[in-house]
Amino acid sequence: MEIYIEKNYNDVSKRASDIITTLLKKRPTAILGLSTGSTPLKLYNNLVGKFKKKEISFKKIKTFNLDEYLSLSPTDENSYRYFMWKNLFSKIDIDVKNTFFPTDFKPNYKNYDKKIKLFGGIDLQILGIGRNGHIAFNEPNAKFSSRTREIFLAKTTIEYNARFFKDTESVPKKAVTMGIKTIMEARQIILIINGENKSKIVYDALFGSVSTKVPASILQRHKNVIVILDKMAAQDFKK
Ligand code: F6R
Repeated sequence: MEIYIEKNYNDVSKRASDIITTLLKKRPTAILGLSTGSTPLKLYNNLVGKFKKKEISFKKIKTFNLDEYLSLSPTDENSYRYFMWKNLFSKIDIDVKNTFFPTDFKPNYKNYDKKIKLFGGIDLQILGIGRNGHIAFNEPNAKFSSRTREIFLAKTTIEYNARFFKDTESVPKKAVTMGIKTIMEARQIILIINGENKSKIVYDALFGSVSTKVPASILQRHKNVIVILDKMAAQDFKK
């Protein structure tokens, strides 16, 4: 595991977008695993900038998103498909037919994993971490052997994600998530984290015991993980 502690969110996003840029230049047909939420916003913005400067093209890539709320339509502004469209896909030269979300495979989620395999597997998976240690929507106690499936969101996740909705009640209770095993099959993983509110869970995930109580701790067992975090998120490292 390589760990980079950056000054701030901008530098975290810059390092992550530089890694993706290098990959896309080397492998224009790359398969990317994408995440949503607040953390990757600047990273996506940087990639759009690099596309506009003609440094990279997304024409031949394929993308698989980590998760999606079950009850939201793709046009709902809180759906992750809408998020990806608004923040990345509508601003680059990607072919939307090459962008995949687990809910598209309802109810045969096994076919999501099959599709990933069919294309040769994910070259690079972008990950964030939830304040409860989740990766994608694999909440605490999810099995390390899990595959893409429907899940109930943890109460902590519903409360945290309520900031995007009218109120807590409006947050869907169920979602579809890529499984932990599926995530661990990606050839490379970049975990990006910022902000002091993640510092405790990041410390537990990276340096605590590998346990389903902290799903992200499984990343300690992956051969090619790059963790990029800002100083605030790394503040517990010294203690
Ligand atoms: C989103 C996802 C989640 C988020 C995590 C952190 O697709 O899979 O695991 O990465 O909840 O979210 P933010 O970045 O909003 O703190």
